[in-house]
Amino acid sequence: MMQINQPISMLAGLSPKEFMQKYWQKKPLLIKGAFKDFKPVLSRAELFELAESDEVQSRLIQAKLLDGKTQWSVYHGPITGRGKPSFSEEAWTLLVQGVDLVNADAARLLREFRFIPDARLDDLMISYASHRGGVGPHFDSYDVFLIQASGQRLWRIAKQKDFSLKQDTPLKILNHFEAEKEYVLDPGDMLYLPPMYAHDGIAVGECMTYSVGFRAPKSDELAREIFLRLSDDVQDLIGSKLYSDPDQMAVTTPAQIPLELKHFAMSALAQAIDRPIIFSRLLGEMLSEPKDHVWFQSSVPAPTKVRKGAHPFPSGIRLDDQTKMLYDEHFIFMNGEGWRATSKDKTLMRLLANQRTLSREELTNASEDAVDLIRNWLDAGWAHPLQMLTKQALNKG
Ligand code: SIN
Ligand code: CO
Repeated sequence: MMQINQPISMLAGLSPKEFMQKYWQKKPLLIKGAFKDFKPVLSRAELFELAESDEVQSRLIQAKLLDGKTQWSVYHGPITGRGKPSFSEEAWTLLVQGVDLVNADAARLLREFRFIPDARLDDLMISYASHRGGVGPHFDSYDVFLIQASGQRLWRIAKQKDFSLKQDTPLKILNHFEAEKEYVLDPGDMLYLPPMYAHDGIAVGECMTYSVGFRAPKSDELAREIFLRLSDDVQDLIGSKLYSDPDQMAVTTPAQIPLELKHFAMSALAQAIDRPIIFSRLLGEMLSEPKDHVWFQSSVPAPTKVRKGAHPFPSGIRLDDQTKMLYDEHFIFMNGEGWRATSKDKTLMRLLANQRTLSREELTNASEDAVDLIRNWLDAGWAHPLQMLTKQALNKG
């Protein structure tokens, strides 16, 4: 388990606890030498190869000076060799989203940030920029840790309240931007920025930047998604009671909606919403939903009968890097599905969610139900025997 009280160099000698108290969602933090001898998880060539595939989302952004004004262009991936400017050309950048889902080392890097709840994590984006390349001055609604992976980048940042954007550009670019602070990041340095903090990263020579992004869900998005999911289950939840109005009087204003009908509808809605357990399940299923293009591959042969008395998972298990596993007080969730675990299995499943692995020893006393469930996860490729390589590791090798 993560030591949250221990100072770590990744956070400039702060403990995760101190970082969260003093900086998280509050103010930027520059961390020189956050990662010693930082090794990029992909070479430049590997990044461009990845951008050619439709396994990831990628964008190519180029800035050109026209009549003294910067003109931005954006191309959405897959980015083929022909669509890419030459490396000697200045002021362009390639951004590849969700690298953690296809690269085991990238997934491992994200795990360094697990002092922040998984439900807040979004992805690892990797950008390559030629000299002077960048995406222009902007703000994000995300918390982000910007890791300098190779080369140098100048970060200009400002805590400004003017969020107005330039018209007629394909990018979100701030209308006015005046840097308050400037930092040059070297490989292994990291800059944390809270949401809505204006920033502009400009490559000094060619460079690669990793963005560890933490999504902050919006209230309307959450409510809409819960409503959608709730509407599928609504009949199960509140039945299908017929409105009745034996006391309805004769009316002279037939167009007016009866107040009783309004109350009937409101009470139906209130009944559907006022279900803490259902709400728990829907929220957890939603938060653990895998991204659109994620697919899983099992690494075990077709299920075989386990000999009586033999350990069902002799090498232990690990979650696939793409698997999202969360829990709350009622349920455990994996990849958009929820289960109510019995009290003994609850402890085991929570341990799996937090550690993302279970050793042979930890699995020894798993109930029959838990063993069945885990076997299903192995068949689906949501988890793997500990010693087996994942799809990502296989692809790499
Ligand atoms: C980049 O890597 O160029 C973009 C990161 C950001 O500013 O959010
Ligand atoms: Co940004």
